[in-house]
Amino acid sequence: MTAVKSAEADRRPNLFHFTRLPRPMVDHADGIYLWDRTGRRYIDGSSGAVNVNVGHGNRNVIDAMKRQLDRVSFAYIFQFENEPAIELARGLAERLPNGLDRIYLVSGGSEAIEACLKLARQWAVATGQDKRWKIIGRMPSYHGISLGALAVTGDDVLTKTFDPIGRPMPLVPAPLVHRDHDNLSMEQRGVRYANMLEEKILEEGPESVLAFIMEPIGGAATAALVPPDSYFPRIREICDRYGILLIHDEVMTGIGRTGKFLGGDHWSCRPDIVALSKGLSSGYAPLGALAATQRIVGPVLEMGGFLHGHTYGGNPVACAAGVAVLGEVDRLGLVANSAAMGELLRGELEALSARFPFVADVRGKGLFMGAEIYADPWPRSHCRKASTPICGSSIWLSNAD
Ligand SMILES: Cc1ncc(COP(=O)(O)O)c(C=O)c1O
Repeated sequence: MTAVKSAEADRRPNLFHFTRLPRPMVDHADGIYLWDRTGRRYIDGSSGAVNVNVGHGNRNVIDAMKRQLDRVSFAYIFQFENEPAIELARGLAERLPNGLDRIYLVSGGSEAIEACLKLARQWAVATGQDKRWKIIGRMPSYHGISLGALAVTGDDVLTKTFDPIGRPMPLVPAPLVHRDHDNLSMEQRGVRYANMLEEKILEEGPESVLAFIMEPIGGAATAALVPPDSYFPRIREICDRYGILLIHDEVMTGIGRTGKFLGGDHWSCRPDIVALSKGLSSGYAPLGALAATQRIVGPVLEMGGFLHGHTYGGNPVACAAGVAVLGEVDRLGLVANSAAMGELLRGELEALSARFPFVADVRGKGLFMGAEIYADPWPRSHCRKASTPICGSSIWLSNAD
């Protein structure tokens, strides 16, 4: 979306955002479109922050939220159960694979990551493994903006300023296999990158390592990076060998975005803990969740409970939105639609790549696609070898049309 200087922007002297870029004043939205106050219409090509999975203005979601608002808008989760939260947990457990049926509700992606990290640590303590506290992440990666999430994020620009007050964790290279110049096949490269995790575990001391966190398909930091198939089973094997938990960050890739319910479902992955948000409420309310197996949650609850909680965790209105979104994902067949429309999008992007040599490495799954834009518009053979990508561009579309 092009930032448009508008008189409206000058009328907010008290509000600040992460950049000073002027932006249009939104007025209303419907399906894949947003309108600003001047009547200009925008295609929401990025689907908001890659979260409006069911599109804008969905009547069923809005009505479900209104019904919930009429009943009760807030009841503190420490004091009351609420039906939408129970139903949302049930709905997620039914759709998630491999025993990921214990759900903890929060209000966003970074909160979901914080909850994952803390649950992992508490599991270690509850099972007599107090020495395990290191959580290995990948470079580059993005897991959120709060201090805990930044500690496992591989992005120097975002993290360096805050390193002194956080606790930066070890990182291993993300499998940017398409940039490697060796004689290995893609599958061999996948194993080689996974093996870097084992090397890091040995370097850090296996008894100190608690978990490995990764985005199954890369998001903001790597523009829909899809590792070779061989990467996933090898990562699981290494985690099992050293008793390390595998955390999948599906904040961006979850809830059908990639043409499967979870990104990791493309490889039948078996993570121990999964973080969800974004598409879970599709932008209708702040909502996030972690899903874990009973093996992890059981000892923590037996020990006395999860030392975690936010005022708005399990909020009834947000959960009503989540339940309705899951219903719409099913009713409209949006997971299959993402797979089908993604193939169409891939074809178009590949055609662009064939036409413009600086557009390279079209990749992704479903409506979660990325490409790399190279600085020098040279022939592709040169491009790959001689030039560094200036950015990984991602294209994300809402599923709503
Ligand atoms: C993979 C991933 N994890 C975590 C987050 C953080 O989510 P939030 O912005 O809701 O805090 C994001 C946000 O873009 C993300 O893409």
